[in-house]
Amino acid sequence: MSLAADFGITLTQHVLRNQHQHPDARGHFSQLITQIGVAGKLIAAQVRRAGIIELWGTTGTTNVQGETVQKLDRIANDTFIEVLKRSGCVAAMASEEETKIIPVPKEMSGDYVVAFDPLDGSSNIDANVSIGTIFAIYKRNNPRDVVDRDFLRPGSEQVAAGYIIYGSSTALVYTDGVSVDCFTLDPSSGEFFLTREDVKIPERLKVLSLNECNEPYWPAGIQGYLRSVKAQNTEEKRVISSRHIGSLVSDFHRNLVKGGLFLYPPHKTTGRGKLRLLYECNPLAFIAEIAGGAASNGKQRILDLLPTDLHERTGLYIGPKAEVAAVEAWLAKGE
Ligand code: AHG
Ligand code: MN
Ligand code: MN
Repeated sequence: MSLAADFGITLTQHVLRNQHQHPDARGHFSQLITQIGVAGKLIAAQVRRAGIIELWGTTGTTNVQGETVQKLDRIANDTFIEVLKRSGCVAAMASEEETKIIPVPKEMSGDYVVAFDPLDGSSNIDANVSIGTIFAIYKRNNPRDVVDRDFLRPGSEQVAAGYIIYGSSTALVYTDGVSVDCFTLDPSSGEFFLTREDVKIPERLKVLSLNECNEPYWPAGIQGYLRSVKAQNTEEKRVISSRHIGSLVSDFHRNLVKGGLFLYPPHKTTGRGKLRLLYECNPLAFIAEIAGGAASNGKQRILDLLPTDLHERTGLYIGPKAEVAAVEAWLAKGE
C-alpha cells in the first residue's frame, strides 16, 4: 500500500460500499447518512465551543449555565433540521424539541422521515460530561403528504438508526439493519473514519446503569433483579460494576461496547416512563437488536410498541438479551 492510501474507510465510503445490501436504495440513503455526519460535525463544533463559554460563565452570572444549555439544545435542533432540510433526502422530521412535525418544502423533499433527539443528556453540558444526538430513519408512507402517521409507527419499521456522541472524541454509530458500525471523527481531516465494524454487545453482564435514587418509584421486581445481580459479586471478586452517566446515549454507548444493561423503569403508580419512544428508545432499541441485544418496556419489545403520540414516553430496559429477559421475569413475578 502506498503511503498516500494509508488511511481508513470514511463514513461515506462505508455507506456506498454497503449499498448493495439494500437493493431499493437509490443513493439517497448514503447521502442522508453523510448529511447526518455533517450535522454531527457542526453540532460537535458548537458543543466544544460551549465548554469555553461555560468556563467564562462560571466567573459571571449563574444564569449563563442554564442559558447556554438551552442555547445548545436549540442550536443542535436548528442545525439538524437545516442540514437535513437541505439534504434533499427527507420529507419531514420530528424532534424532541418541537411540538409538531417539521415538514420539508416540496422542492427539497425526499423519501425518508427522521425522528431525533437533537441533544441527549443536555443537563450534563455544564459538567463537561458526554452528550449526543440520536436519530431514527423511516421511509415515508405517502408520496404526497407527510402526516403524524408517518412517525406513529412501530420502531421495527426503521430502516436505519444511530447517534453521534460528543465525548472524549466525537463518534457516529449507526445501523442500517444489517450491522452496527462505529466511526470516529478525526479532527485534523474533519472526516469520520470507521473504527469498529459490526459491533456486537457482549453477552455477559459487566455493567449496570440506572438512577438508583428513583427506587421509591420503581415497580415491584426491579429490587429483586438488582439483588440477583449484586449477589454475583463476592468478597473475593467483583464481576459487575455500576456506571450511570445520566446521558442515555453515553450510557448506552458504553454498555454496547463493554456489556451493560441500562434500566429506566416507569413510575410504579402512574406507569409513566421518562424516556421518549420515538427519539430515544426506538433508535437505541434498533441498534441494540442488530448488535445481538434486546430492548423492552418490561412486558413488550420496544420495537413492537405502536406510538399514539409523537412525544410518547416509556419504561426502558436495554442491553444483553438474557438480562432484558431476566428483568422481564422479575417484573412478572413482582418481588
Ligand atoms: P434529554 O437531555 O434529551 O432531555 O434526555 C435526558 C434523559 C436521558 O439522557 C437520561 O438517561 C435521563 O434523562 C436521565 O434522567 P434522570 O435525571 O431522571 O435520571
Ligand atoms: Mn434525551
Ligand atoms: Mn434532548
